[in-house]
Amino acid sequence: MTARYYIMLGAPGAGKGTQAKQISEELGLPHISSGDLFRHHLGEGTELGVLAKKFMDSGELVPDDVTIGMVQERLEQDDCSEGAILDGFPRTPAQAEAIELLADQLGGKVAKALYLDVNKALLVERLSGRWVCPDGHVYHTVYHPPKKPGICDIDGLELYQRDDDKKETVEHRITVYLEQTAPLIAYYRERGTLATVDGDQDIEQVQQSLLQEIG
Ligand code: AP5
Ligand code: MG
Repeated sequence: MTARYYIMLGAPGAGKGTQAKQISEELGLPHISSGDLFRHHLGEGTELGVLAKKFMDSGELVPDDVTIGMVQERLEQDDCSEGAILDGFPRTPAQAEAIELLADQLGGKVAKALYLDVNKALLVERLSGRWVCPDGHVYHTVYHPPKKPGICDIDGLELYQRDDDKKETVEHRITVYLEQTAPLIAYYRERGTLATVDGDQDIEQVQQSLLQEIG
């Protein structure tokens, strides 16, 4: 079977991680988040994690060569043989070219870029109330509270707030997204693989819209 790569595109707080986790279960493809991979490296204290932290804390993108190498290594693992749901990658034109090439090398293709279109005021509200678990499950104090405060429903791990969800960093991350990542919307539109979904809807409605687009 040809490997299929689905790309979740959208601003910080758009809901990429929330939706990717659910789509991953629906389609039986692994959820690969570049941000989660960096945070995992940081937790393990690797050189790559320490390097990435400097960029993440300031809301800047980690350099392309480092990011592409890390994602490539992950996509070459056996559990990705049928494809993956990519969340937060690609984020620059160079990364978009890299995934085209890599998908081809791995005997697959980018099936669709799923763009979550969300109003800016909602992004800030979503990020300020976000709590995450070390395994990447995502909660929100109002929109998606855990059953037991501070504890992940799925694996019982302790939830925490991300360092880069401070208000000033969030504003900068949104600016960086608009400058460096938003041009990918046109890139995928031109290739005929873009699907735009109204990400302002509630979590379940967004999920239904995405599954319709995936078909
Ligand atoms: P990353 O971890 O990818 O962060 P991000 O893109 O800024 O996106 P977020 O994770 O903040 O948002 P999300 O869209 O996943 O939203 P979520 O589902 O959590 O990247 C972090 C950093 O790593 C970057 O700044 C960069 O430094 C580096 N990096 C990562 N990838 C890189 C790359 N490719 N190249 C270079 N550098 C890279 O939802 C947010 C909140 O809203 C949650 O609380 C959730 O419960 C809630 N929510 C979600 N959907 C809804 C809804 N429909 N209604 C109401 N609430 C909702
Ligand atoms: Mg995320």
